[in-house]
Parts: sequence; structure tokens; C-alpha cells
Amino acid sequence: MTAELNVLVVGNGGREHALALALSKDPAVTGLHCAPGNPGTAAVAKNHAVDATDGDAVVALARDLGVNLVVIGPEAPLVAGVADAVRVAGIACFGPSARAALIEGSKQFAKEVMNAAGIPTAESHYCTFDIEVAAALDAFGPPYVVKADGLAGGKGVVVTEDREVARRHAESSLPVVIEEFLDGPEVSLFAITDGTTAVPLQPAQDFKRVGDGDTGPNTGGMGAYSPLPWAPDGLVDAIMSRVVQPAIDELARRDTPFAGLLYAGLALTSRGLKVIEFNCRFGDPETQAVLSLLESPLGQVLYAAATGTLVDVGELEWKDGSAITVVLAAEGYPGRAVSGGAITGPRLAGSDDNVHIVHAGTDIRDGHLVAAGGRVLGVVAQASTLARAREDAYAAVDELDFPTGFCRRDIALRAERGEIPTPTL
Ligand code: AMP
Ligand code: GLY
Repeated sequence: MTAELNVLVVGNGGREHALALALSKDPAVTGLHCAPGNPGTAAVAKNHAVDATDGDAVVALARDLGVNLVVIGPEAPLVAGVADAVRVAGIACFGPSARAALIEGSKQFAKEVMNAAGIPTAESHYCTFDIEVAAALDAFGPPYVVKADGLAGGKGVVVTEDREVARRHAESSLPVVIEEFLDGPEVSLFAITDGTTAVPLQPAQDFKRVGDGDTGPNTGGMGAYSPLPWAPDGLVDAIMSRVVQPAIDELARRDTPFAGLLYAGLALTSRGLKVIEFNCRFGDPETQAVLSLLESPLGQVLYAAATGTLVDVGELEWKDGSAITVVLAAEGYPGRAVSGGAITGPRLAGSDDNVHIVHAGTDIRDGHLVAAGGRVLGVVAQASTLARAREDAYAAVDELDFPTGFCRRDIALRAERGEIPTPTL
């Protein structure tokens, strides 16, 4: 067993709250801090005000607290090089270097890595100038897929039948990647890696569009469930051997080893599995559902990944059953979200039954809990069946009083009804 772990989690969203909750259950974790954290993390960890993208500030705090593991949640500090700063200071860090984080930070870099490693993905054109856009759109035809090249908080992608909408998004977001449309159900697979060895988490599915029935604009994610009852046998092994391990090996070959969480977002298309995107961190809100099923001690696993000893960890252990996250967002999201709406109800300060609430964008004002972000809360339920988990999650949603909030009502509904045909690998 690892020595005692004093852990600092960097970030302030629902993913960081879920990470803090899972870390708090690891008996080796004797100290737990969040920077800056949120009102939810305050119930399980000590929050510290800090600019999460400022490497020097994070290092100073980590030293001050005497932590022996830093876990970086969001992409912005990773792309900004905060993990590099922590490692240079001699502190174990779970999270890739800035150069390795480019797998998420640049769509173009991700395509280069995939092409070099023979990883299946959508065909694409990289456009720097207006004049390249029309030809790229016409090369693929509708539905059009246009992606801003840099970080965009899940909102830089437009998928549309309307050529004019696609053209306008492309021309206002240059440089862009324009690519082939991928059909078929989407899967999020997370792998914890030390740069050489990789260990998968259970697969999940995320709901990107804001509205029921997958309508409206893309968001950071409106809900998720795990595992996938419709998944073909061997899905995780296929993704690990065709996608995750080749990507890790290619990044190591380029002398930018990836130590942290590699997130593969895939479409299981009629022509086989293909990568939609890589992210360099835990997905949000999939993490909230996935970690609620984890039995293995998360702190010890992340510490092994941060110290190059993941090979000793072996396969992760999971609870039976299913878990679901339903995100409550503030009116207006993913556009300008209404801030300051009051939130009351049970479980907001934590709970120990099969349902819990993670805070994503909340604040305390005048002693009251209010909305302070686009995605505000995640209601997480874990139960013996997906149907039961859905029922419990939506019952908990209905117990909340959050008049300026809304959620999708159909998270995991098609999976529960058995309406997703099992794709072939
Ligand atoms: P990304 O930010 O790359 O994950 O894209 C956000 C969402 O847009 C994905 O989860 C998909 O639902 C959709 N999307 C992205 N690329 C494609 C594609 N090539 N074909 C179909 N849908 C896509
Ligand atoms: N759930 C999508 C993301 O974290 O990017």
C-alpha cells in the first residue's frame, strides 16, 4: 500500500467535486485539498483560493500544504503547463505536460498523432484561410462538421445540415478542422496512464446537445451514464488496443509522454470505431457517474500513474450495476447563463445513500447557495439497474428547488429502453 497521501485537486467544477469525493473514500488519503474548489468540495476537502492556471501559485500552495500528489482536473491549467511546474518542483502530479496536453489543446495536433499512429478517425481538412473553407465543406458534403482548432469548452464544434451555418462558423473560428461526419453511437472511454502502461475505466456515454432528443447546440455535456448495456463484447479491449495504447506510444515516441487521464471520445460507426476527439483529462459529467461505481482506491491509482508505477496496479475494480449523472444547468446555457438563481433542497451538502449531488457552478452569496455558472449541479445515482438509477436520479432532481435551472429529461432513456442497436466493432 502507498504511503499516506496528502492530495491537492486543482479545479472548481463538477469533475473536481467527483474526484474529491472518490479520493476521500481512499483510506490512504489522509489530507485532501481543492484549489480553488467550490461549495461542494468544501464538504469533503479544504478549499484554497488560487488561480488554477498559474503554475507558480499552484506550486507555492502545494509546497505550503506539504502535499505529495497534485491532481489537475481541467484542460486549461494542463494546456497552460501547470503539471510541468508541479513536476519541476519535485511533487508527483497526475496530469499531462503542456506538450502532451496538446492532444486536446489542438485538434490539428491530435489528427497528426492519430495519422502517425494509424488510429482510426474522421478524414479532415485543416483550414487557415476563408478561401479553403468552401472546398473543404464540399469535399465531405452534409452533415457538415466544423471544429475550432483550440480549446472551446465543448462549444467549438458545429454539426449542421446547413452549409451557410457551417461556413459562417468556420470563417469566424479560423483556423478550423472540417471533417467527415461520423454516424453511430458515441462512447467516452477514460484511461489512466503513467505514459507507458494504461488502465481503462468503465465506458460511459455523454449527452452533448442541450435539448431532449439531442436537439439544440452543443454543450460541455448535459448528462451521462455508465456502463453501456448495449456495448459489443470486447469494446474496451478494442479501444485500448486500437486507440489508447497507440496514442500513448506515439506521444512517448515523440518525447512527450502522456501521464494522466487520456479520454477517447469515439463514434461506433457502420465502418468501425473512430475517434471523434481526445481530451487530456477526466470528462465532465461522465466522471461523476463512472467514479461513483469505482471500488479501487482512487488516490493510490492516481499516485501510481503519477510516479510511473501503474504496472503494479492491475485492473480496476467496480461495483455491479449502473450509474447516471443528470446535469442541472442555468437558463440560457450554453449561451449566457442566468447567474444568482437560488437553489435549495436535500443532499446539497452531501449524502451517503445511493444518490448524491455534485456542485459544478455554485456559489454561496449572503449565506445562500446560488447558481454561478452554466452547468450548476450534477445529480448522480447509482443502482443495481440503469432503470432504477434513472428513476432515483430524476426523483432527486424533482426534489430540488432551482427555478432558474433546467435539465434534460432523457438522459440514458434510449439505453434503458434497449433502443440502441449493438454496433459491430
Ligand atoms: P468534440 O468537441 O470534438 O467532442 O465534439 C463535440 C460533439 O460534436 C461530439 O461529441 C459529437 O457529438 C459531435 N461531433 C464531433 N465530431 C463529429 C463528427 N466527425 N461526426 C459527427 N459528430 C461529431
Ligand atoms: N463530457 C465531455 C467533456 O468532458 O469534454
